[in-house]
Amino acid sequence: MKPLQQQIAIVTGASSGIGQGVAIALAKAGAKVCINYRSSEDGAKKTLKEIEQNGGEGFIQQADVSQPEAVKTMFRNTVEQYGTVDILVNNAGIQVDAPFLEMSHDDWQKVIDVNLSSQFYCSQEAAKEFIRRGIVEERSKAAGKIICMSSVHDIIPWAGHINYATAKAGILMFAKTLAQELAEKKIRVNAISPGAIKTDINRDAWEDDASREKLLQLIPYQRVGEVEDIGKAAVWLASDDSDYVQGQTIYIDGGMTLYPGFKDNG
Ligand code: BGC
Repeated sequence: MKPLQQQIAIVTGASSGIGQGVAIALAKAGAKVCINYRSSEDGAKKTLKEIEQNGGEGFIQQADVSQPEAVKTMFRNTVEQYGTVDILVNNAGIQVDAPFLEMSHDDWQKVIDVNLSSQFYCSQEAAKEFIRRGIVEERSKAAGKIICMSSVHDIIPWAGHINYATAKAGILMFAKTLAQELAEKKIRVNAISPGAIKTDINRDAWEDDASREKLLQLIPYQRVGEVEDIGKAAVWLASDDSDYVQGQTIYIDGGMTLYPGFKDNG
């Protein structure tokens, strides 16, 4: 039996990048997936196509997850479609970069709303559904699993990206606090903090040789990550194989958080 057989997952921001990779990985592990997107319907269709080509199942759901009402609709539609929700991957995230003194209030707020507040809105709806339904032993030992996508920038400061790094640091404590609060309800909450993973969000940093060389100076393991590196961890965190893991943030970063600048220095 596949590790996520019969389980229902919602992956936010599943039309590209890490969200797309995670949605495909969960589907390969047996989950039926709600593929959420905000603006790229084409991307969401690509995710669905790949899921179906691998013998999996999913459906596409447009929703701006920074809007609480849209989040409620997404959950209602998923429950209508598949009966319940077992797994939430809070993945949707954006970068709107600017030097601190030039960052507009809108760009500050937008990144906080999309990257951090969306996780609050989605987790609240997920927790309500997990508690309503309770544990279904044939599917999982837990009543539900929440995975929060963070970033190495939840602990690595990042000049020129203060909205992004602040939101990610918020996710670190959000996941821990939620894990503490919901544990007695048998809801598991954990986070993944990816380092540099090859996606559109950081294409400038890895596409040409010179940029890649510079980026690799920050990665002791000497390779840029792939979305599959994150997908595998998400499957594990969503499955009963990690049933005793609660409130943890797992860094999947080739060692980026090991202060590589201190090798032969300091
Ligand atoms: C950012 C990427 C960046 C990586 C490592 C991620 O959270 O979205 O743009 O390459 O962190 O710095």
